[in-house]
Amino acid sequence: MKITIIGTGYVGLVSGAVFADWGHEVVCLDIDEEKIKKIKEGVMPIYEEGLEELVTRVQDNGSFKATTNYKMAVEHGELIFICVGTPSAQSGAADLNYVYQAAETIGKYLPENEYKIIITKSTVPVGTNNSVKKHVNKGAGDKKVDFDVASNPEFLREGNAIYDANNTDRVVIGSSSEKALGVLEELYSKLDAPIVKTDLASAELIKYAANAFLATKISFINEIAQICERTGADVKSVSHGMGLDNRIGPKFLNASIGYGGSCFPKDVEALYRTSSANFYDFRLLRGVMDANERQKFYFLEKLFEKYGTNLSNLTFGILGTAFKNDTDDVRKSPAIEVIRILRGSGLRMKIFDPAAMETAQEVLGNDYLEYMDSAADVFEGTDAVVILTEWKEFATLDYEALVKKMKSKVVFDGRNLLEPEDMKDMGVEYYAIGRSEAG
Ligand code: UDX
Repeated sequence: MKITIIGTGYVGLVSGAVFADWGHEVVCLDIDEEKIKKIKEGVMPIYEEGLEELVTRVQDNGSFKATTNYKMAVEHGELIFICVGTPSAQSGAADLNYVYQAAETIGKYLPENEYKIIITKSTVPVGTNNSVKKHVNKGAGDKKVDFDVASNPEFLREGNAIYDANNTDRVVIGSSSEKALGVLEELYSKLDAPIVKTDLASAELIKYAANAFLATKISFINEIAQICERTGADVKSVSHGMGLDNRIGPKFLNASIGYGGSCFPKDVEALYRTSSANFYDFRLLRGVMDANERQKFYFLEKLFEKYGTNLSNLTFGILGTAFKNDTDDVRKSPAIEVIRILRGSGLRMKIFDPAAMETAQEVLGNDYLEYMDSAADVFEGTDAVVILTEWKEFATLDYEALVKKMKSKVVFDGRNLLEPEDMKDMGVEYYAIGRSEAG
């Protein structure tokens, strides 16, 4: 099939490369010339495991082209996927300007009387696709255009995006056009996954409901962690015991300093706005957001309780700046927020993240911060080490040797990567989240 992708962020670039890998002819468009130039040179604008190799391969075999030429891109695709960003507006609702701009520009370049399907992959609130249709028509003006709109939300996790695109649990497609549903069903027929064919509004809502539910799971276990700390229970045992019930499942039950990233905070808030705009107060979601916000402060309280709020005579090592492991993304990263608060208390920090050093430095600058070359470096002469991102390699460091390099053996574990017993054996004063033997 001939496929056009508008927007080369995580979703667009990964989807485009994967479609090309499936043998389709893909054109990926972005209005950012610098980004397209880089992609053509095989340099990815984002860090995603395996993406550079994949894009290089599909560019070399001619099935994937990157361009800034809108006219060519729109004329090319029988399927045109809108994958542009939908950041949070000031109000917390999703900012749809990029989506509507893309829709209008597609309309402007749509060839006359040539059937196309315009599919939104960006996460957009219920009702958006009807407006996409209006914007395409607006862009088309008096031309006679022939198109259907569809919704096909993505469920890609950063760091696992290529795997997820090839091994999704389900494909969701929504449209009022049987023809569009049929073409999309054919596109995804190569996947061994159920295809949910539904109406536009339901497809749009599935994405928000799924992300909000996962966020709820995280906030739920984080609140349970608070009960654990107050009763002497251990949240790891509790989540293990809960997760074995297959109606609950073990995933997304790791207590932490809270969820972050470009999706969960934005999507939960946008769903709350959608419900309010429809005269329904989704109170459960308010609780989810509130618990997530509080979670990092509960963690910081442990630290302030020990040291007071003036930390200007101390230096800490920081492990992790990304919002989660296996990514260089620091958008809405709870780690970044914690670092900012600590800096506000005058703390000096030695920082390391396996992938998110540059991105962290861009948002944090250099004041009070020293960016190190390895995880081991953050232990050197520091008063405490704070783990903020769940990188696997942070769980398997040689702590026995490393803590000996510290000024005092204190570890604050915001991701429950370590075992209180092990830390005790090493003579480490250990603080975690909802762990019985932790401080
Ligand atoms: C998420 C969804 O998983 C994906 O389906 C959707 O399309 C985009 O949003 P992503 O943002 O890449 O993907 O991150 P995810 O792996 O879901 O983690 C989100 C946040 O929750 C991270 O900050 C992570 O650290 C946190 N988290 C996750 C926890 O705190 N505890 C957990 O048990 C799981």
